[in-house]
Amino acid sequence: MDAATLPQGISTIRLGSSGSLPGLRVKTAHCEAVIALQGAQILSFQATGKENLLWLSEKAVFAPGKAIRGGIPLCFPWFGPHPQDASKPAHGFARNREWQLREIIQQEGICTLHFRLEDDEQTRALWPHAFKADLAIALGHTLALTLTVQNRDDQPWPLSFAFHSYFPVSAIRQVQVEGLENTGFIDQRSAERSQHRQSGALTFNGETDRIYLQAKGNYRLRDTRNTGIAASNCHSAIVWNPWQEKTSRLHDMQPDAWQQMLCVECGNVESDALRLAPGEMQTFALELQGD
Ligand code: BG6
Repeated sequence: MDAATLPQGISTIRLGSSGSLPGLRVKTAHCEAVIALQGAQILSFQATGKENLLWLSEKAVFAPGKAIRGGIPLCFPWFGPHPQDASKPAHGFARNREWQLREIIQQEGICTLHFRLEDDEQTRALWPHAFKADLAIALGHTLALTLTVQNRDDQPWPLSFAFHSYFPVSAIRQVQVEGLENTGFIDQRSAERSQHRQSGALTFNGETDRIYLQAKGNYRLRDTRNTGIAASNCHSAIVWNPWQEKTSRLHDMQPDAWQQMLCVECGNVESDALRLAPGEMQTFALELQGD
């Protein structure tokens, strides 16, 4: 799609102080949103009369090929460091590549933007597989993301991914995540990969980096306001807050920003990772709703 054919309420913008990344601003009767074409990454979503559902770092870097700290980056086709080669980009390449905007559908008050990423020479250099990934971002009273991935190879391949949602919080020590009770998790802060079990709601009093496996897919972020997180076909939940010391090592976060953000990510990683057969297609969805 080019700018001339964009429907009313949708305009092209340049992101960052030097305007180095293209994006879209969407205004509908029910919400406002900003999306970067790089990563098809939604950076802000505000339903009418509500607060912004997503957190975006004040120091986020907007540069071609660099991950943007905030909103909902898509980690794909691997999560975290590449399992065999640490020189490859963390969390895969999907968040660092510009996606193609294919169509915009406005129906019953919901505006849905359809993006696509397919393998090319650059992706095959990092991951030698043929694929098609379609991401639909539906903007209504709620925010819904649907990812459809197809294996276009004649061999099966492994897939790990996550919708890496960043949420704003009023004070990290006062928030709770519900829905992970009794779920097994790996603590990524330790080299040991044994599983622990969550007892009660998750609260925060230090650096947190956990991968919950075989999780339920329905969570609630309880704060001065609440956010509902509903995922389907996503069996893992990753919860991350870098706390003070790790934040000081991140060039794209303010030193105290860890107090006002939390990542609750949904996807399939580690032992929940998938294997797609030739031609196989799988769909994964995430819906976020603020109170
Ligand atoms: C989380 C991981 O999903 O993302 C953390 O569990 C990681 O280990 C964090 O530090 C941020 O990753 P990045 O690559 O965006 O700095």
